[in-house]
Amino acid sequence: MSILLAGGAGYIGSHTAVAMIDAGFDVVIADNLYNSNAAVNDRIEEITGTRPKFYECDIRDKAFVDRIFGENEIETVIHFAGLKAVGESVTMPLQYYRNNLDTTLTLLEEMEKNNVKNFVFSSSATVYGEESPYPYRETMKKGSCSNPYGWTKSMIEQILTDAAAANRDLSVVLLRYFNPIGAHESGLIGEDPMGIPNNLMPFISQVAVGKRDHLTVFGGDYDTPDGTCRRDYLHVMDLAEGHVKAAEYAASHSGTEIFNLGTGTPYSVLEIISAFERNSGVRIPYEIGERRDGDLPEFWADAAKAEQELGWRAKRGIDEMCRDSWNWQSKNPMGYRG
Ligand code: NAD
Ligand code: WQD
Repeated sequence: MSILLAGGAGYIGSHTAVAMIDAGFDVVIADNLYNSNAAVNDRIEEITGTRPKFYECDIRDKAFVDRIFGENEIETVIHFAGLKAVGESVTMPLQYYRNNLDTTLTLLEEMEKNNVKNFVFSSSATVYGEESPYPYRETMKKGSCSNPYGWTKSMIEQILTDAAAANRDLSVVLLRYFNPIGAHESGLIGEDPMGIPNNLMPFISQVAVGKRDHLTVFGGDYDTPDGTCRRDYLHVMDLAEGHVKAAEYAASHSGTEIFNLGTGTPYSVLEIISAFERNSGVRIPYEIGERRDGDLPEFWADAAKAEQELGWRAKRGIDEMCRDSWNWQSKNPMGYRG
């Protein structure tokens, strides 16, 4: 039996492929390479000694997805395939709704047709919205999102919940990620954003490697301990290992279950800068700038449910996260392109 990683060539999917192979699963990746590079599969093979079967395809293509299910004994689908840039989603909402919702619907329809029963979804802490008190718990009501990207996650959660309610054979696990950073310790795979990075750690890494001259810290006057925003950063390999547990859980349960995947400990932007400097030996020039629209001052996970029910807990700390981000960036200053 195999696991299908839809969008598996991307940042989180490629690390999950490594963790899945290490745990003994057969991995099939399907990705249109919109935000990733075919070289990822060579790197996964270099790390694990096993080359995942790879399909270059759009997950919205029903006939192609049908073919993948026909050619492989897929037990579980993990759905990473989505557009994920928050700011871009505000200017291109239709593309975000079309891509993120259609990929999900196509997978669900083709799974039903091909009798595939387990679905694990890459959701986000963003579904807790702007009103929820922190730490965020899975039992809280979802809130209103500040951008179309967040709404796609919230809507897809609803679609999957409804599908599992109507089809008792379907098992759905919704994974609400907090802020994944870091890279595989080999430095062979990592986050490789196109253009100017939106997220903090890739931006810091590109400053460190000399691609950008300084970081702008978005706001220094928040009501937080040092005035900068705090987030629950987690190591991408911890997150990847969470998917192994989630896939095992999905295969032995039915209905819909939600899990936060975070560490439960927040760090501020200034703390991340200083941890990065400590672990790389490189100074990060920065200036405090304006607040970024839509940013919340702080939030983090209550990570107890994942520990109790999945047996998963983040093991790697902030130093390993920064060390591994730097290891990847310094070994691959141009990402997969150079
Ligand atoms: P990523 O962009 O690196 O990976 C997504 C992959 O999906 C890319 O390889 C892309 O080419 C592929 N893809 C997109 N649309 C596709 C389509 N129609 N058909 C086939 N492939 C398609 O992103 P990531 O950081 O690895 O995130 C993976 C998932 O996790 C996304 O759904 C994202 O929204 C979600 N998520 C990410 C974060 C984060 O901070 N990185 C946080 C919460 C949730
Ligand atoms: C982290 C902190 C910024 C860049 C986003 C999505 C979320 C999830 C993960 C993705 C914030 C600050 C950042 C910079 C800065 N989804 N920052 N200067 O916004 O917490 O979460 O990514 O798929 O849905 O919203 O992450 O990395 O963008 O920002 O000061 O140049 O770093 O203000 O406090 P965020 P981030």
